[in-house]
Amino acid sequence: MRNKFHTVQISSVRSLTDDSAEISLQIPSEISALFKFYAGQYLTFRVHLNGEEIRRSYSLCSAPFEGAYRVGIKRVDQGVFSNFALDQLKVGVPIEVMPPTGNFKYQPNPEVKKNVVLFAAGSGITPILSIAKTILHDEPNSSVTLFFGNKGFSKVMFAEELEQLKNNYLTRFRLYHVFSQESQGIPIQKGRINQERLIALYQAFLTHETIDDVYVCGPEEMIYSVKSFFEEKGLPSNQIHFELFHSGNSTKTNASEEKRKISTCDVELIIDDDLISFQMDESDKNLIVAAQRAGADVPFACKGGVCCTCKAKILEGEAEMLVNYALEPEEVEMGYVLTCQAIPTSNRIIISFDE
Ligand code: FES
Repeated sequence: MRNKFHTVQISSVRSLTDDSAEISLQIPSEISALFKFYAGQYLTFRVHLNGEEIRRSYSLCSAPFEGAYRVGIKRVDQGVFSNFALDQLKVGVPIEVMPPTGNFKYQPNPEVKKNVVLFAAGSGITPILSIAKTILHDEPNSSVTLFFGNKGFSKVMFAEELEQLKNNYLTRFRLYHVFSQESQGIPIQKGRINQERLIALYQAFLTHETIDDVYVCGPEEMIYSVKSFFEEKGLPSNQIHFELFHSGNSTKTNASEEKRKISTCDVELIIDDDLISFQMDESDKNLIVAAQRAGADVPFACKGGVCCTCKAKILEGEAEMLVNYALEPEEVEMGYVLTCQAIPTSNRIIISFDE
């Protein structure tokens, strides 16, 4: 089942930098159909540490054509999961993981000839690497330009793999490192990828080119700089795709109170063909919290409106989201919500995780 966790084994661990590693998973053949994925999608892991359940999502850095499941994990100060993963995950260790999901994805078409520009910062390279490999391998006429921001060369994840890609696709893959704390002797490639740097990079490397798609993954500031820069250049917003790693959102509590228009709601929840009924009241912050209180085993990871693991469709009734960094406008139009952000605005609601 797509919404459930499956226990799989770690098949290899490879150090990438002094604070990151690539972890490979062995997906048993009985569940391999559930684990089919598109470049750019992510896996959600679950562990129990000191009596607490921890869930974290990590983008796959492998490409679908490679037939492998690999994620890149970077150590985060005080990061419970990343410290556990880098210190304790070894070959043969079992771990719970949910099948791949996510709206940030690239569906290759061997017939097209595209010019795709990618931006990544730090561990944001993981889905971007998968997308780059997929385009270069599956679209023989397309070309890729990647701008990759880091503090310096020692922090570059997948440095060797990127160099190898450059060698393999000399005429179709351009790679520009941008270092914030280290000079490469080229002033335009020094600094953070922000509005000012984008102007310089664009003038140096992209002027007079027709760009078909832009994919960006990293912190919020970089994402919004890239998005507004290319919108100003005339690229339609549906050709600018982004995956946010950290929302930085801090206004949820007030927003929660503002959106709450009713005191109770009768909820019917469909998941894996089961129907669960419960009443949500003012003490429940959102639909996920209410569903968990009612004992439903619902899918979620970030609980911050970023990842879309908790996506469900409203079949009847209405709800509003506090924030939405993950769903496309068309999905919202079709009735999908992030249940970790959704508060019903009708007295009765039916939602399905199976749609
Ligand atoms: S759990 Fe990540 S968006 Fe809801």
